[in-house]
Amino acid sequence: MSYPYQIHSFEQYQSVYEQSITHPEAFWESVAQHFKWQKKWDKILDWNFTEPNVKWFSGGKLNITENALDRHLQENPNGIALIWEPNHPNEKERRFTYSQLHEEVCRFAHVLKNNGVSKGDRVCIYMGMVPELAIALLACARIGAIHSVIFGGFSAHSISDRLHDAKATFVVTCDGAFRGAKEIALKEIVDDALLACDFVQKVIVLTRTRTPVSMIKVRDVWWHDEMKKVSGEQFANFEAEPMDAEDPLFILYTSGSTGKPKGVVHTIGGYMVFTTFSFVNVFQYKPGDVYFCTADIGWVTGHSYIVYAPLCAGATTLMFEGIPTFPDAGRLWDMVDKFRVNILYTAPTALRSLMSYGLEPIVKHDLSSLKVLGSVGEPINEEAWFWFNENIGKGKCPIVDTWWQTETGGILISNLAGITPAKPAFATLPLPGVQPVLVDEQGKEISGVGSGNLCMKFPWPAIIRTTYGDHERCRTNYFTAYPGLYFSGDGCLRDKDGNYRITGRVDDVLNISGHRIGTAEIENAINAHTGVVESAVVGYPHDIKGQGIYAYVIFKDDLDDPDLTRKDIASTVAHIIGAIAKPDKIQFVNSLPKTRSGKIMRRILRKIAEGETGNFGDLTALLDPSVVEQIQNGKLD
Ligand code: PRX
Repeated sequence: MSYPYQIHSFEQYQSVYEQSITHPEAFWESVAQHFKWQKKWDKILDWNFTEPNVKWFSGGKLNITENALDRHLQENPNGIALIWEPNHPNEKERRFTYSQLHEEVCRFAHVLKNNGVSKGDRVCIYMGMVPELAIALLACARIGAIHSVIFGGFSAHSISDRLHDAKATFVVTCDGAFRGAKEIALKEIVDDALLACDFVQKVIVLTRTRTPVSMIKVRDVWWHDEMKKVSGEQFANFEAEPMDAEDPLFILYTSGSTGKPKGVVHTIGGYMVFTTFSFVNVFQYKPGDVYFCTADIGWVTGHSYIVYAPLCAGATTLMFEGIPTFPDAGRLWDMVDKFRVNILYTAPTALRSLMSYGLEPIVKHDLSSLKVLGSVGEPINEEAWFWFNENIGKGKCPIVDTWWQTETGGILISNLAGITPAKPAFATLPLPGVQPVLVDEQGKEISGVGSGNLCMKFPWPAIIRTTYGDHERCRTNYFTAYPGLYFSGDGCLRDKDGNYRITGRVDDVLNISGHRIGTAEIENAINAHTGVVESAVVGYPHDIKGQGIYAYVIFKDDLDDPDLTRKDIASTVAHIIGAIAKPDKIQFVNSLPKTRSGKIMRRILRKIAEGETGNFGDLTALLDPSVVEQIQNGKLD
């Protein structure tokens, strides 16, 4: 497989970028022509950011799985598409050639069809990091069903909310999942969720942990039983459903500043073209390279850069079931050594946690296969950047700091490994076709060196199309703050060379270990506890997670045992959202700093949580300024 659109030098980047901005449509057409289309598009781009309405490659017909699988069958059928490393190191890895993966996907597409799934249906996938998860995604895409993957750490309540929102009538899950020393009973969580979702018609259950599970007649079927029914030669292929370029590929829920997560919708054609283009260029993937992304497929990074883009590029993608610290903190380095990994894409939070174990877990492994390192999910602090560079890359591997979001589908700002210059803690330059702008609070564009809110002024092919079932929400969330622009929600600064440095969210969204959670969402969950009167949640700097969750809680009764109550509140949050949203600190307070109109002044709460002792700015707007001192006196360390 060759990549005619791969950029090979900084000068070439500059000229391609220039061309992509002056003639975006011609540029993306020149990339798109290297994919397999059943019918060519009628129109390259139609767009406005007012409704918003964005359509790429309209009229084009394709199936993304023909690009991810079938296309490689002639050239490279025995090339390894997917390597899967299990949680327990003594269990053997599994390898799938392109031809084997194609067959598995086709068989599971038959299973979906046999169980009543048809084009356009929403299929919720709640599984651990097993190869069947990737197979399930691709099988949905094969038959034209829309997958909605829910990260395995979310609660039954969260699943049920998402099932309702997407009106998903099918679920694919596992009996359980292994994560480090833990076993998580996924099917049981699904069962709880389904108590409130009687519209779900079928649940397909894969055996992974052999945990006993309830299997309800008619509704629940075993993955392996269903696969047996399609074991014959006639099921080894499944004719890929012809899809419109603008048909939805998937829904992925993500948090915003309002209480309820929204279903970000991506469509097929543009997403495929952009994610593959970005993969090949950012990581400088070369045929034969082994590429390892440590993300979970439950998040967008896993969708785009474990499954779709690497497979569309004919790459070898390594998928890991476990966690970096199990059975010890050398696990990732052991895998790099074992599989001779060339490209490693991970998150700053993982690096910070591994840094605390010292160098011993690293030095016993041969990391000489590594060529490129990548970071995603949150700003990478300089300490982690230098540690990654010196101890993992041994000073010879470019580090790509990739900035993007669930809504952007793929990487928008990043250096291209070894091609464009890296700068520690900077995501650096926009990819071709990406037009960032910084604006001040009034929406005035800032030119040259400066800082402001990060927006985009032109659509790239993988931009969010809508929020499922509620287009207005998409408009108000991303397109109304600064009319005519897509607003990312991130603050950002630009240096004299045009490099971008992301400074973090400017809205009420936290980034906990690279996972997005809205403060309002956590507050709603805390407020559901019987004894809670009111709460306010803010983020604070956390050594490992990047941000920690600090909750100020007004409790209605006297507290006999504050620690136990804290645990009750945390458990309430875990029950409603999932363990990832549990507050790290809960401070009980008598009141919250509010303005006369009743608005909580979060700025002050944030400063207290961050450890500031004075300098709270103008407090005259507060109804009762003495509250600030009271809260400060009770601050938790
Ligand atoms: O704040 C930015 C941060 O993560 C947010 C997007 O989160 P999510 O949609 O969950 O997607 C994460 C994986 C793409 C952004 O708004 N973020 C992501 N990458 C970076 C980053 N912040 C700084 N530098 C990055 N490289």
